[in-house]
Amino acid sequence: MSRCKFGAPIDLKADKTTITFGNHLAWQGGFFQGSLWYLYELTGDEKYAATAQRYTESISDVQYVTDNHDVGFICMSSFGQGMRLKGLDYKDIIIQTAESLMTRFRETTGLIQSWQASEALDRKCPVIIDNMMNLELLFKATELSGDKKYFDAAVSHADRTLKEHFRPDGSCWHVVDYDPETGEVRKKVTAQGYSDDSVWSRGQAWAIYGYTMAYRCTGYRRYIEQAIKTFEMMKNHPNMADDCVAYWDMCSPDIPNTYRDVSTSSIMASALYEMSTMDVDNPGQYKEYADKIMTSLASPAYRAKLGENGNFILMHSVGSIPHKSEIDVPLNYADYYFLEALKRKRDIEK
Ligand code: GLY
Repeated sequence: MSRCKFGAPIDLKADKTTITFGNHLAWQGGFFQGSLWYLYELTGDEKYAATAQRYTESISDVQYVTDNHDVGFICMSSFGQGMRLKGLDYKDIIIQTAESLMTRFRETTGLIQSWQASEALDRKCPVIIDNMMNLELLFKATELSGDKKYFDAAVSHADRTLKEHFRPDGSCWHVVDYDPETGEVRKKVTAQGYSDDSVWSRGQAWAIYGYTMAYRCTGYRRYIEQAIKTFEMMKNHPNMADDCVAYWDMCSPDIPNTYRDVSTSSIMASALYEMSTMDVDNPGQYKEYADKIMTSLASPAYRAKLGENGNFILMHSVGSIPHKSEIDVPLNYADYYFLEALKRKRDIEK
């Protein structure tokens, strides 16, 4: 056993592909359940729903986690999907999880604090672009409870992030650290990218997906405008590969001799399918690009043979190169967003 960057115990299995997280709910803790829910939705086979329900209910402690912002990822990919697909009574768990996330809302900044403060890392109130994804939980909690405070916190977070996280070309920083006393920005840096000013690819994917989702939940045009701008930056980036599967950081000086991050591209594909259903100019262009990504991901270059790859669907993702962690491996969230993208594609083409 050793410890991973999230502080959770990890157990690297003999096949070197599977990492389990003991009883600690790491941020990826709901994606296996979510993949089962999507397998159920895609196939109609009840065996997936039964297993998804069992594994979903095994992580109900997520509702009491307050030491990080990832509860939105965890809860919505598991309980959120079970409620959507089977009408399971997860309302109280979802609202309690949102309450836990609200304990991290800082009035001075108008933001939800992502990670804990750290003297060693000189962080006081770090907010990462990934945090946009957790807002879906807050929007859902308002829908289920009728209490607007969750919606208001989500809009406040999305608006301040819009102001502070983005550069004029549409790309975003990974981490913005704030002074929790004054609410002012202290610094803009990276944790998982090549450098502070580089374009960490998965961060861009979280921004595209997060602001597309925020537009769906609010109808505020500024959100979809940002999602489109960030997508255009990625699409037109001189370092975007011909097969549309992103390198782990668009500014890596080692391109093309460095790693792809398949998770970035599956997240982007899913977001683009949703974008293509919205009232935006020329929506078909987003489906066209998503289809290109999906054709690449489904090819033998990225999709594993059945029974190989530790039983994951996709190969070649990257967790964090600066932390020397999960490099060129399958990742459960790459599979989750790939399945979600397949489902969205199927619904559009029906
Ligand atoms: N949310 C963590 C990551 O994208 O690696």
